[in-house]
Amino acid sequence: MNTIKKVTWQSPSNIALIKYWGKHGNQLPNNPSISFTLEECYSETTLAIEPKTGSSNEIELRFYFDKKENLAFRLKILQFFESIHKEFSFLRDYSIVIHSMNSFPHSSGIASSASSMSALALCLCSMDDMLNKRKTPKDDFFARASHFARLGSGSACRSVYPVMASWGKNKHIKNSSDKFATDCSDWIHPIFKTFQNSILIASASEKKVSSRVGHSLMETNPFATARYKQANDNLNTLIKALMTGDLDTFGEIVETEALTLHALMMCSTPSFTLMTPNTLAMIEAIRDFRESSQIPVYFTLDAGPNIHLLYPNKFKSKVHEFIDLELKQFCENGRIIFDAVGKGPKLIK
Ligand code: PMV
Repeated sequence: MNTIKKVTWQSPSNIALIKYWGKHGNQLPNNPSISFTLEECYSETTLAIEPKTGSSNEIELRFYFDKKENLAFRLKILQFFESIHKEFSFLRDYSIVIHSMNSFPHSSGIASSASSMSALALCLCSMDDMLNKRKTPKDDFFARASHFARLGSGSACRSVYPVMASWGKNKHIKNSSDKFATDCSDWIHPIFKTFQNSILIASASEKKVSSRVGHSLMETNPFATARYKQANDNLNTLIKALMTGDLDTFGEIVETEALTLHALMMCSTPSFTLMTPNTLAMIEAIRDFRESSQIPVYFTLDAGPNIHLLYPNKFKSKVHEFIDLELKQFCENGRIIFDAVGKGPKLIK
């Protein structure tokens, strides 16, 4: 009899429009955030369990990334499992094997923690349902997966929903919470549901600062209080723009958020400059193109040098021409990932 039980989820990365930067307690955000869920950049994770052969009470875990055993990732996941094993008793009762891969190259400068941690949290919740012979109602299932994704990596909690998700208490967003993300796909204007996101790889090098260190720098950042107020105000303004399809306001807020994130890093102690000259050259070119073409195309940035270009689907061919002519030259080896707003995670089996 085959006693191995398996579950596989594909879960996407997300790109924040209002940035989460600064946290407290057990992965609780200092301000609310909101993001587009991506489509092409995802992780696929399989969680397999089988009865233990010995009587040890330790968590038995093997972790494979791209089919190769990965001890560094194993250690990270092991710590995560230690912190949540009370909620998932099977973690100690069974021997666990995890296989994970990303649709995007490891060294592309794309953060993989959101997609990988959300995929893992979804697998944990599915496996738990399977072992307990229960079917958690859809909304509760995704809220629970989002909660555990957050404990793995904060922003990962936003990846379990299609199109757009917020995380953090906000009086205008129903059911919003600091503990899990909320699906925003049903109240935003249709124009945002097919938005494009072209990722312009200014540099594919490893991140200069981990987000764990980045968040902790906010504890001593002299502008922290003002920043948390600004994030709340920006989210309130953005919510209105998202509802009405007001692209000018959308763009203004999104670009301010990206530049604020980088300004906060520049004025932290120690200080980090994560933009490169090519990032700045692209920002200038995008602003010039927007001005001269009147096409609503905007940029945002993660905690790194790569530009996420955001624009409505109907301008796709004109923007691709612009990318080819003016932006590609600033990308490392001409690398660009053409992504778009996505449909959310998928249960594979
Ligand atoms: O989820 P973390 O701890 O990797 O932090 C993510 C921080 C940003 O990507 C810079 C912003 C965000 O809200 O996703």
